[in-house]
Amino acid sequence: MRDLTDEQLRASGLLKWAVDGPGVIPAWVAEMDMPVPDVVRDAVLAHAAQGVFGYADPRGRHEVIEALAGFALERWGLQVDPHRVLLTGDVMEGMRLTLHHLTDGGPVIVPTPVYPPFLVTVRDLGRQAVEVPVDPDADRAELDVAGIERAARDGARTLLLCHPHNPVGRCWTRNELEAVRDAVEPHGVHVVSDEIHAPLTLPGVAFTPYAAVASPDAPVTTLMSATKAFTMPGLRCAQVVSQRLEDHRRLTHLHPVLNHGMTTLGQIATATAYRAGGPWLDEVRTRIAGNHVLFRELMAQDLPAVRIRAAEATYLAWLDVRALSCPDPVGGALRAGVRIDGQDYGAGGAGHVRVNLGTSPERVREIVRRLSAPAAGWAAT
Ligand SMILES: Cc1ncc(COP(=O)(O)O)c(C=O)c1O
Repeated sequence: MRDLTDEQLRASGLLKWAVDGPGVIPAWVAEMDMPVPDVVRDAVLAHAAQGVFGYADPRGRHEVIEALAGFALERWGLQVDPHRVLLTGDVMEGMRLTLHHLTDGGPVIVPTPVYPPFLVTVRDLGRQAVEVPVDPDADRAELDVAGIERAARDGARTLLLCHPHNPVGRCWTRNELEAVRDAVEPHGVHVVSDEIHAPLTLPGVAFTPYAAVASPDAPVTTLMSATKAFTMPGLRCAQVVSQRLEDHRRLTHLHPVLNHGMTTLGQIATATAYRAGGPWLDEVRTRIAGNHVLFRELMAQDLPAVRIRAAEATYLAWLDVRALSCPDPVGGALRAGVRIDGQDYGAGGAGHVRVNLGTSPERVREIVRRLSAPAAGWAAT
């Protein structure tokens, strides 16, 4: 794994690094600061060298699907049926297609706080979001299964799961997923499980795909992608895996213009990452785990009023800043030279901010130094 300098990242035209000038460390957009594995870069370069950039085959390249199936089997023991995988441009496009074409048009259960585009997408489709908050005061963030069941009993027939969860960092256990299954399957709820962060489950934590606990004929759609874990979200390629053949058929028969966002470069990068990126990924997971420990230790020393639960997956830290006397923690952080994320994450998310630790340990140290500087207004005076 190589690290890039601030100057290299700023010159790359990325949203994350483009918004602010040299005085600010960007710790907001959910992508990491290292380049893709060399093997992925080489595959993309080889394809680009041909100079052929037509539309990608909407049925998808078989090599991507085979590589996904191999990765899922090796990492999670999950059997992915290649005949139930649709390629799409990105996970949110897959979510939109699934919600619009495979679910009933009624309310959607959304455990919150959650990656804000979930709520934006649900509402943009004219659907009601039934927010079921994770208790922000519990020692461990847990799904409110009784709340999910209540919403299903009240008529919601769709559940959007984020697993592992952005932003609370939980990797839901098999027991928790089975409890969700038992709560929703009797009501015929279609479970849409966004598992984009699954490859970034931290070492020592087990990831169980929701599909592995669901009944074989249950309405389940899993959204997967290599782009988050292999740090290439700009390349556009995600996978929609249907548990039921009829759901897959319905999606594959849509007019191609409705599923138009993927690129051949994204497909090649994805196939290569799933097939050959494992050693790089494991290095990154170890780096991220170390960054979480470092961040929590330094924060506990310098800013003990901020509560941070241990993460089980991905590089996002979810900070409870309710005990700070600072009226504007996000604005304060920016004044001190760090851009963090303070969007509306839905019910249970108030008084929390998200910090991206998908970077070098040096930047993690510097982030804490800046957050604890007087300019941020986080430290008690
Ligand atoms: C849970 C989750 N889903 C989806 C996305 C977006 O993925 P994509 O760019 O493939 O739509 C993100 C990005 O941060 C995410 O955290």
